[in-house]
Amino acid sequence: MLEKRLWPNLLFIIFGFLTCVALWQIVLSPRSSGMFQMNTVYSLYTQNYTGFANPAHQLSVTDYNQLIDLNFSFVILNLVCNESSPLLLVLVHSSPKNFAKRRTIRETWGRKSEHVKILFMIGTVNSSDLQKTLENENRLHNDFIQGNFLDTYRNITYKHVMVFKYVIYHCPQAKYILKTDDDVFVNMPTMKKFLTVDLSPFGANKMLFCTPRKNTKVLRTYRSKWRVSFTEYPNRNYPTYCPGWTLLYSPDVIFALYKEAQRADYFWIDDIHITGTLTAKNPPHSHRY
Ligand SMILES: *[C@@H]1O[C@H](CO)[C@@H](O)[C@H](O)[C@H]1NC(C)=O
Ligand SMILES: *[C@@H]1O[C@H](CO)[C@@H](O)[C@H](O)[C@H]1NC(C)=O
Ligand SMILES: *[C@@H]1O[C@H](CO)[C@@H](O)[C@H](O)[C@H]1NC(C)=O
Ligand SMILES: *[C@@H]1O[C@H](CO)[C@@H](O)[C@H](O)[C@H]1NC(C)=O
Ligand SMILES: *[C@@H]1O[C@H](CO)[C@@H](O)[C@H](O)[C@H]1NC(C)=O
Repeated sequence: MLEKRLWPNLLFIIFGFLTCVALWQIVLSPRSSGMFQMNTVYSLYTQNYTGFANPAHQLSVTDYNQLIDLNFSFVILNLVCNESSPLLLVLVHSSPKNFAKRRTIRETWGRKSEHVKILFMIGTVNSSDLQKTLENENRLHNDFIQGNFLDTYRNITYKHVMVFKYVIYHCPQAKYILKTDDDVFVNMPTMKKFLTVDLSPFGANKMLFCTPRKNTKVLRTYRSKWRVSFTEYPNRNYPTYCPGWTLLYSPDVIFALYKEAQRADYFWIDDIHITGTLTAKNPPHSHRY
């Protein structure tokens, strides 16, 4: 039933959330530097925390239709937060052709669950037949978000920033946002318990949960799909970053990173760009496991 690749990830998720969680606090430091700073935090939330005020009005009127350097619009848009404030909004990067993976998710961890909304993020496709198939799938499940950029692996950063855009404009009331991939298994009961018991049912702020990866070398070999040229990224190593298969954000962090991403130069490896480069202009002081 489950695809083979799901199981290693399942283990990672369980370990990720139960034992080796690292907690990064991202603080917008004073305006003078305009950079991010990460600190270790022990207490993430205050009992008084009442949620995140929708900040979309702080953005320019042209922001909605801009995605970094593209003219943007949603091709398929489902407004799942209209009548509810989910505890957890799960935004799953999916490739248009991954019908089976989406089906597996809908039948397993992505089954309808109280206080949780799940959406699949896709870009556009070449073929109008495939687009029709996707529209039919969406008609059945109402769980696609499609942006008007071509769905290719070099365009994944657009997809990640589209995740942010959706949260800011269409679901700012979500308490937590999980960005994950369609080959990951999320242990939803554990996740919900973690959010409501270990964190807070009222939400949190300044929070990005992940298992950080340090001292990653930039791949230069032409054999690698992940090869990066010196023009694209001159340094030997990437900054410490959060691998993109499971990122648990608080909404304020999404807003801060979105603003940075919208004006930064495009770099196509989304997790490195967004959770590494954009947060590490001041490197993290420490991590706690
Ligand atoms: C939280 O609420 C309590 C009582 O309502 C108040 O005494 C306390 O100052 C508040 N804390 C913060 C950080 O606002
Ligand atoms: C975006 O739209 C504007 C005005 O409609 C146009 O001038 C510009 O060339 C477009 N940019 C891209 C990258 O398509
Ligand atoms: C959601 O709300 C928006 C505006 O707030 C409205 O235009 C839209 O029709 C609503 N959609 C649904 C599905 O209720
Ligand atoms: C789009 O279609 C063309 C021709 O069929 C093909 O060469 C190209 O690789 C396709 N691009 C994507 C992103 O699917
Ligand atoms: C990314 O998407 C844009 C907009 O659809 C497209 O013009 C561009 O070719 C895509 N880039 C790659 C590398 O696929």
